[in-house]
Amino acid sequence: MAFDTQQINKQRQNLSDYDEIWVFGYGSLIYKVDFDYIISESAHITGFERRFWQGSHDHRGTPDNPGRVLTLSNVEGARCFGRAFKVHHTIFEHLDHREKNGYLRHETDIYLSDNRIISGLVYIASPDNAAYLGQASILEIAKQIFNSSGPSGANRDYVFELADALRKYQESDEHVFQVERALVELSRES
Ligand code: SIN
Repeated sequence: MAFDTQQINKQRQNLSDYDEIWVFGYGSLIYKVDFDYIISESAHITGFERRFWQGSHDHRGTPDNPGRVLTLSNVEGARCFGRAFKVHHTIFEHLDHREKNGYLRHETDIYLSDNRIISGLVYIASPDNAAYLGQASILEIAKQIFNSSGPSGANRDYVFELADALRKYQESDEHVFQVERALVELSRES
């Protein structure tokens, strides 16, 4: 079920108090930068891993045939690579709309590549949101992604573009790469 978080996010942090704010992206925010930013840097956060456990009813799927997109899962000691963007607070109007299906803004420490640690925000879709799909095998995840598309395009392109972006930054993510390999296999078979 779709779940619109825009109003909740507006009440979570009063961003107009700040001129510039950092936001950490780990999924499509890495490769689809459709917003203005002041600077952007490679970065990571700790204690999380990417998982294709969130339903996409608005971007890469439809309400009747949801796709699967990334959220973060708590894993002690884990490191999750991404991109950090310093943005003006007004950009969150757009980001809240883009990430509206189940994602809430959370405060986090962001580790920049030059070892600076800054505070910022990250969008996480937690297991209690109505659009959450949860764990499934790599093959089940890949099959659902293979058969989904929505207003933002084919769900499989979400995976391929992210995997390419990770390679471009010389980063690896076993979960993402396993789903990518399963998708390539499914395309061969079809
Ligand atoms: C993100 O990229 O940080 C959030 C998930 C997504 O939009 O793919």
